[in-house]
Amino acid sequence: MPRRTKLALIVGGAAATAAGAALARGRLAGRGSEVMPADDSAMFTVFAPGGRCAYWCNGPTGWLMAKAMPRMETGLYETAAMMLDLQPEDELLDIGCGPGAFLALKARHVRRVVGLDPSPTMLREAERRLADRLLAGTARLVAGNAAELPFEDGEFSVVAALNAPIKHAEAFRVLRPGGRLVFSDPDPRRRPEQPAVNWGVRWYDEAGHRQLFEDAGFTDVTVRYQRLKPLYEGALVLSCRRPAAS
Ligand SMILES: C[S@@+](CC[C@H](N)C(=O)[O-])C[C@H]1O[C@@H](n2cnc3c(N)ncnc32)[C@H](O)[C@@H]1O
Repeated sequence: MPRRTKLALIVGGAAATAAGAALARGRLAGRGSEVMPADDSAMFTVFAPGGRCAYWCNGPTGWLMAKAMPRMETGLYETAAMMLDLQPEDELLDIGCGPGAFLALKARHVRRVVGLDPSPTMLREAERRLADRLLAGTARLVAGNAAELPFEDGEFSVVAALNAPIKHAEAFRVLRPGGRLVFSDPDPRRRPEQPAVNWGVRWYDEAGHRQLFEDAGFTDVTVRYQRLKPLYEGALVLSCRRPAAS
């Protein structure tokens, strides 16, 4: 057998074993813990390094996710970009940017992009995708947490959080008055129970999501549904804006 094939089999086998072990560990850890949490703070720790489901976004499983996500979410990026109507003068923050695919594919023409993610695995992938813009100084990648955004008030004209955690008040704070936001979450219509809990995180239906954005001060809340296959059956995509006089 050629050396390259042998090497590919070994690397592939090791990655598959690591992914399987991580999934099994996660399933066992999740058992019996589906109680309604008191607040949303768990959302900001479960998928981050050290969190209960960190394997999804870090290490070998995170690496596989980083490779697969851009292919699975193409339709979502399309819809999000359409709802945002990105302009050349925009300054865009992508919260939970993952492998940076949305920024690299849909925000090439905007003035400045910043991707924030707590996962070193995801940030490495994003660095690869945004290499030219990082070099040109029109992109920045930041290791951080959506719960406490390390940015100035009103620093961005656009904020995105695609299938990633969002703290509504923080997103509102870093958006300038009149700024636009897009958010997505797995399609809640597929979950029979509402409100639902998964991995100790609360999941909201459409009305719940609208309420959270309106309570934080956002207006013009619009929701669309995007079909996605195979990992996510679909996504709720919500856009809104920070009022000009706020
Ligand atoms: C399902 S992925 C989506 C990635 C990207 N938005 C996309 O659609 O391609 C979720 C991302 O959220 C990141 N994440 C997890 N916890 C986070 C937190 N507390 N703050 C910000 N991002 C977080 C993960 O590391 C991961 O990259």
